[in-house]
Amino acid sequence: MKTNIADLYFEPLIGAEAIDKRTTEIAKQINADYKDRTPVLVGVLNGSFLFTADLIKNIEIPVEVTFTKLASYYGGTSTTRKIRDDFDLTINIKGRDIILVEDIVDTGNTIHYLIDKLKVREPASITVCTLLLKPKALESAVPELKYIGFEIENEFVVGYGLDYKELGRNLKGIYKKVS
Ligand code: IMP
Repeated sequence: MKTNIADLYFEPLIGAEAIDKRTTEIAKQINADYKDRTPVLVGVLNGSFLFTADLIKNIEIPVEVTFTKLASYYGGTSTTRKIRDDFDLTINIKGRDIILVEDIVDTGNTIHYLIDKLKVREPASITVCTLLLKPKALESAVPELKYIGFEIENEFVVGYGLDYKELGRNLKGIYKKVS
């Protein structure tokens, strides 16, 4: 079934149940990996707000959550390579175990930028948890990338927090652009 968002059409790619199941699996992995620690989940806004919320609901170890905001797409369907810093972390991360929560890693440009920016603040560790990864678009390896929800093709997607022209974030599943 096709869905119309602004001037484009999209079709289902990943359903809400599959997202829920995978998110629970990742949370269990985080529970095990960070046992006896108190990690800080850093959600990268806007796209990761739903994923961060669903992830934290399934984390059972002590955990903090905070957000930072970057923008890198400017409403189109391909990267502009420009990153706009909208707001910074409000907490001191020195000595903390950071888990960056992203909606999608495409070229890897944004996540590299964020990792470099946070590393100088001397956290104990940084790992990245992304709902989606486009492996064929990734331009350089991201060693910190430890938790991946789903690998997808080089296609433009919306839903579950991801937008096209700021629309579509409220869709329960992930939809891909009909070509
Ligand atoms: P990267 O810097 O190329 O890795 O792109 C990462 C950012 O671009 C993500 O956090 C999203 O905001 C945006 N992005 C990349 N691919 C898509 C997509 O298919 N749909 C919506 N936004 C995307």
